[in-house]
Amino acid sequence: GRKNPDMGTTRKHAVIDPATGKIDRGIFSDRAIYDEEMEKIFGRAWLMIGHESLVPGPDDYFHTYMGEDPVILTRDGQGRLHALLNMCRHRGNRVVRCDDGNAKRFMCAYHGWTYRNDGSLEHVPGKSEAYYDALDFASLGLIEAHVETYAGLIFATWAKDAPGLEAYLGDARWYLDTVFNRRDGGMQALGPTKWLEPANWKTMVDNCSDNYHVPTSHLSSAAVQSRFLGRPRLSHDDQFRSPNKHVFVNGHAITFRDADDNQPRYMHGVSTETMRLFEDYHRATTPEVERRLGTLRARRVQLGNHSIFPNGILGFRLALPRGPLKTEFWHFVLLERDAPEELKRVIRIGSQANNGAAGMFEQDDVDNWRQVTEASTSRFARRHKQDLSMGVGHAGPHPDYPGLVSERYISENNQRLFYMRWEQFMNADSWAGIPLDPIRARFDGTATMRG
Ligand code: FES
Ligand code: FE
Repeated sequence: GRKNPDMGTTRKHAVIDPATGKIDRGIFSDRAIYDEEMEKIFGRAWLMIGHESLVPGPDDYFHTYMGEDPVILTRDGQGRLHALLNMCRHRGNRVVRCDDGNAKRFMCAYHGWTYRNDGSLEHVPGKSEAYYDALDFASLGLIEAHVETYAGLIFATWAKDAPGLEAYLGDARWYLDTVFNRRDGGMQALGPTKWLEPANWKTMVDNCSDNYHVPTSHLSSAAVQSRFLGRPRLSHDDQFRSPNKHVFVNGHAITFRDADDNQPRYMHGVSTETMRLFEDYHRATTPEVERRLGTLRARRVQLGNHSIFPNGILGFRLALPRGPLKTEFWHFVLLERDAPEELKRVIRIGSQANNGAAGMFEQDDVDNWRQVTEASTSRFARRHKQDLSMGVGHAGPHPDYPGLVSERYISENNQRLFYMRWEQFMNADSWAGIPLDPIRARFDGTATMRG
């Protein structure tokens, strides 16, 4: 460890030098660090685990994960959401073996202990005959996490001392609203597509604010689309001149389009014929969005790639850690529920064409993440740090936008801040030691937190 000038204490984990942006590569492959991440980050943070549309009715359930832990997301008979550790309290068998379904109760297939979908233990075979009525049912329900929702997205945390979700998301919500909270009818999630990659989970999170790689990594994929749309080729100059911004709040990294051109949303990768569908929809819905979010956010701010600390990504997507060298990706398609069916179809096809296991852009990206991970496994290569120095000292508060805003669209400010946030979690003994940015944004006309 080394001295932390802010805290006057010795930091156990000091992996980034904020002044030079140098970081230790070991954090992408070290098993001990990974185990500590599971405890101190995934065991504490609010984790995005699902969307309300995946469990729309009473007694619906959806099987998901909090870090490596299997979790049953249920909606009980009263409509309340629960996140239950999928581990029988007897010996630990998984009580649910399906991806989703509808059930009032779950019976463990080992000895038959049976739980209600709110987690409570209902039935144990031989409770009198074998257990002499000595079993304390009340203390043997499925382990339950705290659940809160934001705009239909479901988050859960194991930490009893965690702040509320609203404080956790903080001013990031001001930006997230422009995708997740646009319409009165809310959103629906389709999917997920699931697949495994030999990459550390952080390499993908890192990439969410990386606009620098786009003209290089995605040159050929982008060229296919530019040709199709009759547009000029993607270039570094476009990125360097872009008025777009990126911003950081409480560990959440966001990029957004900052242009007063009121562009239709989600237009990437569509054909000229379908363009009009997007334009018509945008024109028809803008008054509603303005009423909900105010003019600035409805007409000017367009969310780009983003990550919600620690591992929720890019719209609605999860990077689930499966060991230091492996990540399971879950890719969902999120649609505005009241959008025309034809538009939904086009978005669904566009999303699958770009992202997901067979997505054109995805395959460009995962190759980078694999190699960044692999480089970190070499004892020799690890002696030489990663360089995240781009734009050091060129970010700060902005008069119009909440959070810590980078001066340029191309910058590694968000990556540096992510690893500083990572250190805050890894070095803190409890939530009391993890700082939160105060909420400063005005959420004009925005629906507030539910659940
Ligand atoms: Fe579940 Fe025994 S392990 S009933
Ligand atoms: Fe990319």
